[in-house]
Amino acid sequence: MAADPEIQGFDTSRPNIARVYDWWLGGRDNFAADRAVAANMAEINPALVHMVRDNRAFVCAAAARAATAGIGQFLDLGSGLPTQPSVHEAVRAVSPDARVCYVDLDTVAAVHARALLASGAGLAAAEADLTRPGEVLAHPDVAQVIDPAQPMCIVLAAVLHFLDTAAAKQVAAEYAALAPAGSWLIVSVGHYEDLALYDKMCAAFPAQPYRNHGAADIAAWLEGLELVPPGITEANSWVRGMSPAEPPGRAGYTLCAAAVKP
Ligand SMILES: C[S@@+](CC[C@H](N)C(=O)[O-])C[C@H]1O[C@@H](n2cnc3c(N)ncnc32)[C@H](O)[C@@H]1O
Repeated sequence: MAADPEIQGFDTSRPNIARVYDWWLGGRDNFAADRAVAANMAEINPALVHMVRDNRAFVCAAAARAATAGIGQFLDLGSGLPTQPSVHEAVRAVSPDARVCYVDLDTVAAVHARALLASGAGLAAAEADLTRPGEVLAHPDVAQVIDPAQPMCIVLAAVLHFLDTAAAKQVAAEYAALAPAGSWLIVSVGHYEDLALYDKMCAAFPAQPYRNHGAADIAAWLEGLELVPPGITEANSWVRGMSPAEPPGRAGYTLCAAAVKP
């Protein structure tokens, strides 16, 4: 990846979660510092690459399911660097006119998303902080494609684990309150059964604090909404429409859910 002149304050010497995550997904938008952290974490937790790929499969499956249910607009919050398949590819396979806005706090992710989508009608990218729902929905780039009066699908995938339980609940509840009835919320987090492994993962990337949320946290965030079957479960199982009686036999996995505002 070459440094982009449009991006100010672009420090390639410090690992950055958008680019670290891009490496785990097999992307090329990352630098040596990102790759060093990403590879070290993947070595500490060999399930990590499966966790992030399962997460992407869930995001695309859940968004496509919202499109099948008639949702025509999608707000992907903390969307990361563009990857394939992206949310717009997944939902447009179902509903070709679906509108999608990608939102990320990271300048590099937002600039790349904008460049990728430059020619796409009904697609937009915004650089904004997802923890400020009112500002996100009022952002001019978001307003290009998202009509706040119409039901929407709000994607909070692999981002709420950067917030503590109360802050994550407040963010989810604010989006749910701002969105009209019939809107979908899609959430996922990386979850560790093995707390010693969780501690090692945190120590490997201290610049990016990470909370180990569980099913009870997700249930609290989605309070008042109707869970879409199979409910709160592991990502692979969600994609296959199953809710396993036991957690998967892995030290870490992606936990996820989709819910609809009644
Ligand atoms: C682990 S990646 C997840 C990417 C994508 N959502 C997915 O599930 O595949 C987390 C992304 O969230 C972004 N992010 C973290 N905190 C954010 C915030 N407060 N507002 C907007 N984006 C944020 C990071 O820059 C990064 O690109």
